[in-house]
Amino acid sequence: MTPAYTNAHRYAKSRELFAEAKKLIPGGVNSTARATWSGWEPHPLFIDHGEGAHVVDVDGNRYIDYLLGLGPMLLGHRPPKVTQAVVAAIEKQGTMFALPSAEETKLARKIIAAVPSLEQVRLCNTGTEAVLYAVRLARAFTGRSKVIRFEGMYHGFSDSVYWSKHPPVSGSQDRPHPVPQGPGLPKEIERSLIILNWNDIEGLKETIAREGADIAAVLTEPVMCNTGCILPEAGYLEAMRDLTHRAGIVLIFDEVITGFRLGLSGAQGHYGITPDLSVFAKGIGGGFPVAAMGGRRDIMALVADGKLSMAGTYSANTIAVAAANAAMDELSTPGAYAEIHARSQELRDGLGRILQDARLPAFVVGVGPVLQVWFSKHPIRNYRDAARHADHALFRKWWEGMLDRGILFHPGAYENLFVSFAHTKDDIEVTLGAAREVASTLAS
Ligand SMILES: Cc1ncc(COP(=O)(O)O)c(C=O)c1O
Repeated sequence: MTPAYTNAHRYAKSRELFAEAKKLIPGGVNSTARATWSGWEPHPLFIDHGEGAHVVDVDGNRYIDYLLGLGPMLLGHRPPKVTQAVVAAIEKQGTMFALPSAEETKLARKIIAAVPSLEQVRLCNTGTEAVLYAVRLARAFTGRSKVIRFEGMYHGFSDSVYWSKHPPVSGSQDRPHPVPQGPGLPKEIERSLIILNWNDIEGLKETIAREGADIAAVLTEPVMCNTGCILPEAGYLEAMRDLTHRAGIVLIFDEVITGFRLGLSGAQGHYGITPDLSVFAKGIGGGFPVAAMGGRRDIMALVADGKLSMAGTYSANTIAVAAANAAMDELSTPGAYAEIHARSQELRDGLGRILQDARLPAFVVGVGPVLQVWFSKHPIRNYRDAARHADHALFRKWWEGMLDRGILFHPGAYENLFVSFAHTKDDIEVTLGAAREVASTLAS
């Protein structure tokens, strides 16, 4: 049954606009994560504008925003320095030339200085593209075809990896069956994918022992941010690094969410792991579409000598580069991350206390400015735990209660809350006040 908004009158204009949009745009939206079937039932909100940590919808409701455009608005909406840099770039330079500019090298230098595992970096537009290139590069470098990826993760929508995001649970936990994300993905790709359970060192070790000679890459998010928020257990990423290194397998960290968010050096800096290739997107561009793929010089040499083509008309366009250069300067401000980590911790701790005091079967998991509330009686270590134990109906009530009180985040229990550099202590307090009310309603 399709859930309705309890206070539907608050969202009436959004409902009207959605009815119009659906006539012309399949599903009424331009990306799956905004669709009704991704949780925005009975219709998504239509947004009028955003400023800092706040957004206002077309009905005039104002929200403290933890959706942050699904992550890219790390500096908040319309961060002045990024906006000014983009406007200046358009007015003084233009939007693109299909020829390089000195600004690209400046940006590459900043990215490489921030992330020690990067010896060289290439820019593109989206996380999907950057992952696609990293996987292709790993295959070209190793001469092998198989790729290990983990159930419950998302690495963009290209054919080679758009599998087993949130599949119906099938196969054993040790060897889940690859499940395509809908029709249209060639069946043959299945043979090149090994789907594993995350946070399981033994499973990874056995697979590499058995099939390592055919495995080009292990592709992982360093924190599982696409099934709520699941942290790597102690020693897991280290074991992954060690096992892949010994087997000559390229370790790819998909830092589309964690990059430049957990710190300037991303999750790899936070956990002290050096992957071979890394992918960044949502953290770099101050809200503009910019992505980056980079890593070891000997692997990137395939791009450098022209053997592996990495193309893109819009890659490193003037706007993207200006935005990312300005965003990188903001992120490099001394003390910036200490502040956002403190705010995030206040939110995590506060929510945890409130849910516990209300005796709800819920807990908060997060690292730095990424978190999620799990409604579950059991700990969640991997996708299968989530599929078995996450209470989506309770999450929906929690989400709607918070929405009605002016707190915005994604309605999907497998998504995240994101804190931005623009959230203030006051924003966190107001959020916790709303959470107290909602928790007490849910408890009764
Ligand atoms: C970990 C991860 N990788 C890749 C992607 C794809 O990025 P994009 O939406 O920019 O194509 C996403 C998007 O949510 C992501 O979360």
